[in-house]
Amino acid sequence: MPLLIKGGRIITATEDYRADVYCADEQITSIEADIDPASVAPDTEVIDATGKYLFPGFIDPHVHIHLPFMGTNAKDDYESASKAALAGGTTTLIEMICPGPDDEPLAAFNEWNDKAKPLAAVDYTFHMAVVRFDELAHRQLSQIVTDEGIASFKVFLAYKGALDLSDSDLFDLLKMARRMGVITTVHCENAEAVDAMQTKLIGEGRTGPEWHEPSRPTCVEAGGVHHIATFAELTDAHIYAVHTSCADALRVAVDAQLRGVNIWVEAVAPHLVLDETYAQRTDGFEGAKYVMSPPLREKSNQDALWAGLKSGAVSTIGTDHAPFDFKGQKDMGTDAFTKIPNGIPSVQERIDLVHTHGVLERKIDLNTMVSACSTNAARIFGLYPRKGAIRVGADADLVVYDPTHKHTLSVETSHSKVDYNAFEGWEMTGRSDVVTVRGKVQVRDGTFCGDIGRGRLLKRKPTHPSTG
Ligand code: URP
Ligand code: ZN
Ligand code: ZN
Repeated sequence: MPLLIKGGRIITATEDYRADVYCADEQITSIEADIDPASVAPDTEVIDATGKYLFPGFIDPHVHIHLPFMGTNAKDDYESASKAALAGGTTTLIEMICPGPDDEPLAAFNEWNDKAKPLAAVDYTFHMAVVRFDELAHRQLSQIVTDEGIASFKVFLAYKGALDLSDSDLFDLLKMARRMGVITTVHCENAEAVDAMQTKLIGEGRTGPEWHEPSRPTCVEAGGVHHIATFAELTDAHIYAVHTSCADALRVAVDAQLRGVNIWVEAVAPHLVLDETYAQRTDGFEGAKYVMSPPLREKSNQDALWAGLKSGAVSTIGTDHAPFDFKGQKDMGTDAFTKIPNGIPSVQERIDLVHTHGVLERKIDLNTMVSACSTNAARIFGLYPRKGAIRVGADADLVVYDPTHKHTLSVETSHSKVDYNAFEGWEMTGRSDVVTVRGKVQVRDGTFCGDIGRGRLLKRKPTHPSTG
């Protein structure tokens, strides 16, 4: 059914104006100051957006849904994650495919895609993690880029023995990525340093969640960024530093940007609004809910991340949604923080957190909110202008956002299957009232009403093809 969204204040990465938007056949087909409902197809649904913002659908460039990790499996599936994403205004997810070191990349791609396809209510694509780089992996990765349209890799400089890659394999992978024009997303820490620090702290009897941060301090993350930036400088590869958590790491990335290294920086919602004191909570084992990597940091780092978003040094805000239950999963680490599955889910909460704590606290403006939560990810990962834009010909992924709506975050209202909400009781100002995916209303009055299985795999082309 065609859609006419009337009277909204259109906010894109660069514009802020009032207009009506008409959508037909899954796309935006007209944007005019005033579109008369009598002039459009009779079966058109008219949505009144007076007093509301109209945003392009938000993109979360970093989520985990199917994730075998640290001896357990993440809780969500594409149905729960899609509902959570959509209720929070996110219409496109980019999930990390994280195979084990013995798995074949192509089999992993099929495994992840088979889980997404029947259950996705959002559009989706993947970053392909590279945890081995032998002859077979090289061949299959090329196929995954060329035939399946997965135009980004993921590398972990952490999780020793599970997901990390040797430096020689990393160097060869970046040369291949450069040849193919593929961007490589990177978890920047140092697996050996983290391992040594963990052994030391556990040996000293420092076993609680509050020791997670000291086991991987900011210098370890900064060192990881420096390491990948050096490899990128030598190979001319394109790098995207995921979940950058602190000023020390950000400074190293900016320094590399100033040297001309092709490096983009992602912040994630938990690091922007939560600090290390949450993981230091001593009421029961509560701190475990706040264990993620890189860890939550000392509060002043949040100002650096918001300032980086404002200046453009930080391009995107994702979530690193990694959902593990408190009971039965996080509590696997009661005797050692090293066994707490890492992750803080926030795919449903991201946009309202950014609006409430970023825009309303004047840390970033509305245009930056859109560029960081939608348009920049679309550009960096080859989805623009199909996604991340409000313009004729773009997919009709739209969010009618009420900037005055007050609500409280809670596990009770969250669609994620996880048994806790890291932001329980937080008061939010702003809500995604109506959310569309390719012209179909998937959320109405803030409530999911969409079609499970409607989501499509988005095939992408490499964003940095060689010119030489
Ligand atoms: O704590 C985190 N970040 N868990 C998910 C895996 C990763 O490193 O992204
Ligand atoms: Zn990571
Ligand atoms: Zn992650």
